[in-house]
Amino acid sequence: MNYRHAFHAGNFADLVKHATLLQLLRRLEAYAGPLSVIDTHAGRGVYDLAGVEAKKSGEAAAGIARLIEASDVPAEFAALTAAVRKLNNGGPARRYPGSPWLIAEALRPGDSYLACELRSEEHVALRELMKARRGVRTLCADGYEAAMDQTPATGRVLVLIDPPFERANDYPRIVQTLAALGRRNRNAMALVWLPLKDLETFDGFLRDLEEEIVAPLLVAETRMRPLTDPLKMNGCALVLMGTTVDMAEPLKAISEWTATTLGQGGSSRIYAL
Ligand SMILES: C[S@@+](CC[C@H](N)C(=O)[O-])C[C@H]1O[C@@H](n2cnc3c(N)ncnc32)[C@H](O)[C@@H]1O
Repeated sequence: MNYRHAFHAGNFADLVKHATLLQLLRRLEAYAGPLSVIDTHAGRGVYDLAGVEAKKSGEAAAGIARLIEASDVPAEFAALTAAVRKLNNGGPARRYPGSPWLIAEALRPGDSYLACELRSEEHVALRELMKARRGVRTLCADGYEAAMDQTPATGRVLVLIDPPFERANDYPRIVQTLAALGRRNRNAMALVWLPLKDLETFDGFLRDLEEEIVAPLLVAETRMRPLTDPLKMNGCALVLMGTTVDMAEPLKAISEWTATTLGQGGSSRIYAL
């Protein structure tokens, strides 16, 4: 495993994923009763934007730094920019929150959060960051297996699946995990992040989803540039499984602003499968 999220933290794809995650959590938490969140690929929880990795890639400079400075930002980003300000005590954005920090901050008393991270150094940092948080457990384990084993059979559940896509088998493992979640808990919702490189891979994944998943699926494509170079990350996609809350409008606002403001000839598409 070579993937290090420190190079990518706060990039356009994190903005889309994290702004959507916060919108989804806010809607799910409007319901009474506890919420269980499972994060299959959690990472270390917080990233240093002044560190070597972030400086080298320049991705946060083209992402979160521009979002914070922009004046035309849709309201759907407000919870994310507030979280970044809170993490940085109102000062300049030197640190960027990963999904564990954002989810842990959103938990209400009685809610629970399981954060899985396979890489041991990342897991050590994550465990340290989460140690005083109530309702939070971390596991140094395979997140797909953990989600299939530990999703509660009843109640409200959100599973975040955000793999590094270093291996081709991430695509079939996502489909397998979503199918298992749906069988285990009819109310389970899941948010999946995917890279957009070439359309062949992505379309093949969507076809597999259509065949295997019974629950409704909503797709948001954020294309940062025309998809002419399959070796580049030309954008990202989110797939939302489940119907508990309506996310079409927030997804459209988040995806469109990112593609048109931070992209080069970018565009967005939101559609049901
Ligand atoms: C894209 S990063 C996660 C970012 C995080 N979700 C966030 O939004 O802040 C993917 C992480 O998954 C970890 N990882 C890779 N394979 C895994 C697996 N099978 N199970 C759990 N974690 C895994 C990597 O070490 C990496 O830290």
